[in-house]
Amino acid sequence: MNKTLTSLSRKIREDERRHPEATGAFSNLLEHIAIAAKIISREVNKAGLVDLTGATGETNVQGEEVKKLDEYANETLIAVLRQSGYLAGLASEEEEDVISVEDPHPNSKYIVLFDPLDGSSNIDANVSVGTIFSILKKSRVSDKAELEDFLRPGYEQVAAGYVVYGSSTMLVYTTGNGVHGFTLDASIGEFLLSHPNIKTPEKGKIFSINMGNLSRFDEGTSSYIKYLTSENRAEGRPYTLRYIGSLVSDFHRNLLYGGIFMYPADSNATNGKLRLLYEASPLAFIVEQAGGKASTGFKDILDVEPTELHQRVPLFIGSRQDVEEAEAFVQGKLNFTEEDLNDSRLIPDDAELQ
Ligand code: AHG
Ligand code: MN
Ligand code: MN
Repeated sequence: MNKTLTSLSRKIREDERRHPEATGAFSNLLEHIAIAAKIISREVNKAGLVDLTGATGETNVQGEEVKKLDEYANETLIAVLRQSGYLAGLASEEEEDVISVEDPHPNSKYIVLFDPLDGSSNIDANVSVGTIFSILKKSRVSDKAELEDFLRPGYEQVAAGYVVYGSSTMLVYTTGNGVHGFTLDASIGEFLLSHPNIKTPEKGKIFSINMGNLSRFDEGTSSYIKYLTSENRAEGRPYTLRYIGSLVSDFHRNLLYGGIFMYPADSNATNGKLRLLYEASPLAFIVEQAGGKASTGFKDILDVEPTELHQRVPLFIGSRQDVEEAEAFVQGKLNFTEEDLNDSRLIPDDAELQ
């Protein structure tokens, strides 16, 4: 038996005790997110058996095809969070407008923004998907949450987290006091602390990007990729490419192993693809708490002032040194030229090959 068995509920309550002013509303909210995660996890696990794979036939506000599990996860989160009782407002990647909460409790000061199912194009092939959430605190208690309450920069988040429905289901979150990972023990229905105080390596060996978009990338990003994939890097061997196409899964792997995930701006999409409030901002809070960094290429993701609910943003996220290097390339301060590429310094000569 594990000597230090810590359930998510216990951890949440322990953290609450460190805040004498806490009303319990925040703990309650996190516990409800965990309930929704367990329900979604259960359905993801049996999706192939119960007609939950495939599309609904609808497109969402982003113009993307809605999968049945997108819809299920979205409805589950909305229903469970509404029942939590202390919520001032909700916003979902799948909903055009903010979701109101009827009869909010007078102490309702929290707002949750979420991507109910991330990586949903992977569902039908049984590849890992996830849920991402961000929690904000409304400055004015008891008034109805207005759009402006949701359009807050990432540094104002009070908590952020994700759930990855992988070979096991994990919930990883931060409240600004380190990053903690819990693995779902389905047999007892509890998330148990398996990854306390996660720290990401200062520098990694993995890069994650959709290389199919290579011809559309700006010069800086292309140059950075040439640098990462060249034999001529000062540190020797090229980086390893790993790209699942599920942000949560790609991010989670890189958080543990080190490396960089990129979804840059390209000639087709000037702000990239990923959404600031449901994807970039919560993961930026987590990565910074783990010692890493998240950037648009020009500024910290957490400093971006949102102007729209579904705003997209270029994203470079992961190990601190890797993201700093990427920024230097994107900003044109570093460059990797064809000459560097053809430089035979590190390529062994014929004699060495024999
Ligand atoms: P979502 O399924 O929530 O719409 O997000 C999909 C995102 C993200 O998970 C992933 O990193 C990215 O789309 C992959 O995009 P490409 O297929 O363009 O590489
Ligand atoms: Mn997503
Ligand atoms: Mn999604």
